[in-house]
Amino acid sequence: MVNQIVQTTLLNCSLDQSNIDKYREPVKSIHTQLKNSNNLVGWINYPMEDHNELFNDILAVASEIRSNAEILVVVGVGGSFLGARAVQDSLTPYFGKHKSGIEVIYVGQNMSGAYINQLLEYISDKEVYVNIISKSGGTMEPALAFRVMREYMENRYGSDSINRIIVTTDAEKGLLKKLADKTSYRQFVIPSDIGGRYSVLTPVGLLPIAVAGIDINALMDGAKNAAIELQEPDIAYNHAYQYAVMRHILYNMGYKVELLASFEPSLNKFHEWWKQLFGESEGKEKKGLYPSTVNFSTDLHAIGQFIQDGSPILFETLLHFHEIMVDYEIPFDSRNEDGLNYLSGRTFNEINAISKQGTALAHAEGGVPVIQLELPKLDAYHLGYLIYFFMKACAMSASLLEVNPFDQPGVEAYKKKMLELLKEEKVSK
Ligand code: PA5
Repeated sequence: MVNQIVQTTLLNCSLDQSNIDKYREPVKSIHTQLKNSNNLVGWINYPMEDHNELFNDILAVASEIRSNAEILVVVGVGGSFLGARAVQDSLTPYFGKHKSGIEVIYVGQNMSGAYINQLLEYISDKEVYVNIISKSGGTMEPALAFRVMREYMENRYGSDSINRIIVTTDAEKGLLKKLADKTSYRQFVIPSDIGGRYSVLTPVGLLPIAVAGIDINALMDGAKNAAIELQEPDIAYNHAYQYAVMRHILYNMGYKVELLASFEPSLNKFHEWWKQLFGESEGKEKKGLYPSTVNFSTDLHAIGQFIQDGSPILFETLLHFHEIMVDYEIPFDSRNEDGLNYLSGRTFNEINAISKQGTALAHAEGGVPVIQLELPKLDAYHLGYLIYFFMKACAMSASLLEVNPFDQPGVEAYKKKMLELLKEEKVSK
């Protein structure tokens, strides 16, 4: 048995190993189909390939940005920004985040005039670089934000703006590619066989992550280890596939919502990345689990009541890292007016871990199936592993539902309506 880094267990549910083992053959056959497919599966082998030259280029540009700027503005939406922000938030300090690297901020993921206005005001007295990320090169939200940022950089830096704007896009296609070639912006390529939400471990995520001061080599080592371990087609030895099958069976049992829960608030943006990965990959043809997320203890005092006692529509996936970067010991207080001296000498992280155990047991006793995903440590290496783990599980899980894990036809509907309305308005003006 391979010693896999993500340990997957299931608490208090009628589902047992024999239910999971029934999926052995379908899982093997989907595994082979994915492996032999040529449809957007470039991410499967990417961490095992030799990208040293590219990673060195990314590190060189990141180091240049860190020397010449105080702020990197990343322009992107969906898979073109969520992964970078997830890793950045998970691994940088809670307060004064920019002290460990430069500040990385994001635009182009909303169309709020207030947001972009205030962003421009915020960066006005700081040195700036811009990284525009779009695979298609034509998505409305980042395209509009980039129009503004490009003009801003040209007005502020003149011809030097060419050196301060980095483009991450397709190698050949799209308006952004054309514009980048014409203006001679430096470019990083998004591999054509890797879709947005599977792209965090390519230049899409790696440049902003490196600029934020995170060790991308460690991140990629973790992903590589996952890619090697999770090549295993047999579900008995592949924890990503076990997780995929558990959630598939629970879905078929009538649990239509998966609640990803963590006890570390730095993982909130990681939750957003996970939500997009599973939501956009599975939610089609009127099928799919609704991916939702909570952070405990905060949400135990908000939505905890519903989880414990409300409509039995959800199961919970508890994500736990045994070791968190820093900790704090509960002090002894001779007055003991709050009666908490029995906890002095223990640490916040220890108590948090016990609260996790208590929550899992209480929710399971309340009838909520609980999947536990446990990793040894919250660092770049283990996060790289986990990202790959979830992508592999997601591709399997969507395929078990018989939907395409790599397209997003439903997203086009709103774009079409919005464009129709924008064009109608223009005509009527
Ligand atoms: O996962 C996906 O493919 C999407 O979420 C895209 O990443 C998102 O729509 C942004 O697309 P683009 O990078 O083409 O601007």
